[in-house]
Amino acid sequence: MDTTTATPTHKVYLRFDILQRIEHWLLVASFTTLAVTGLVQKFALFPLSPVIVRLLGGIEMVRILHRIAATVFMVEAIYHLVSIGYKLYVEKKSASMLPGFKDLQDAFQTLAFNLGLAKERPKMGRYNFVEKAEYWALVWGLVIMALTGFMLWNPIATTRLLPGEVVPAAKAAHGAEAVLAVLAIMLWHFYHVHIRHWNASMFTGYLTREEMEEEHALELEMLEQGQVEPEISPEERKRRLRVFIPVASVLSLALLYGVFRFVTFEETAITTLPPAEREVAAFVRRTPTPIPSPTVTPTMQATQPAAAGSLTWDGGVADIFARRCSACHGQAGGFSVADYRSIMKGGKSGTVIVPGDPDRSRLIQVVGEGKHPGAFTEIELTVIREWIAAGALER
Ligand code: HEC
Repeated sequence: MDTTTATPTHKVYLRFDILQRIEHWLLVASFTTLAVTGLVQKFALFPLSPVIVRLLGGIEMVRILHRIAATVFMVEAIYHLVSIGYKLYVEKKSASMLPGFKDLQDAFQTLAFNLGLAKERPKMGRYNFVEKAEYWALVWGLVIMALTGFMLWNPIATTRLLPGEVVPAAKAAHGAEAVLAVLAIMLWHFYHVHIRHWNASMFTGYLTREEMEEEHALELEMLEQGQVEPEISPEERKRRLRVFIPVASVLSLALLYGVFRFVTFEETAITTLPPAEREVAAFVRRTPTPIPSPTVTPTMQATQPAAAGSLTWDGGVADIFARRCSACHGQAGGFSVADYRSIMKGGKSGTVIVPGDPDRSRLIQVVGEGKHPGAFTEIELTVIREWIAAGALER
């Protein structure tokens, strides 16, 4: 900035009126809610996610909050559309957010200035290229998120028109665009309005003269030369409002009805089905079969004529215990599965295996409940039960 000219620092320039600031805060609230409640679902295995889910009142609550915030976002977008229509049509303001060739020039000149290749920053208008890019990125993001969000919210309606694979594709796009949007806000937006220098205009509504010189020099020049956009006459405003009000009303009612259909169309994605029966034996052996064990060679089997078809400790059961239990019950002291003698001896409160009766064997009760730190798979448990039922033989 040029520090040689003594500029009156107290002069401020209105940048955002109160309605625009309210819009911004609505956006902040809904965007943040969407980001938090969405990211904890996308990154459910991240250690912080379950903590946040619990703080917010559970996953059902998180999903409902996400949808409420999405609805607020969409309604705000409709209001924004109407307010732009008002400014452009009724007040005949120029479309200061539309990108043009000058923005491209400004971008190149800024790059050159930052690299030390240009002496001056470009003089930029009411909205500079950085702000325009961010604004249109937001519009683009809203369109993508609303489209993919609709597909996730209403999967049956969607797949009536489109093939089924669009639903997981929409999920991937929704999550990826969300990450992009959050990063854009945290890196790009925060850098430009908070870190590079603190821009208070969304709080106060005003920019200082220095800020105007640096980022909107062209607009400042025009303001100082008195080149403000002419106010329209009250008669003309009245005349234009007569067209605007009915058109805007019909359009926004139609859009609001669209949002209403969007959020109520179907409940498929919202209702969580009750979890299915947890303990289901997917595979139950009809006849006891010895499990093949790498430690038992054919010659060994030949020398150990165990009762045909019956399970034994040496014939594979020991391996199951070693695999599932020995991490905690392997050493001396306490209940040990290290060998046949110690497992039959049991733990500190006596035997845990009643040969011939798995249901009265405490070992089955302990691990069968599903609360023990160690567990067998469904199939292994069936095998162990059969082994006990057949007499819990060693060989
Ligand atoms: C992560 C560690 C861990 C694993 C793995 C584990 N347990 Fe345990 N188990 C314990 C603890 C701790 C106790 C309670 C202390 C004790 O009694 O020794 C216990 C106690 C038991 C008891 C009661 C012993 C008694 O004193 O009466 C049985 C039976 C038992 N476990 C069976 C099993 C079986 C079978 C497996 C393999 C499927 C297994 N445990 C795997 C930690 C483990």
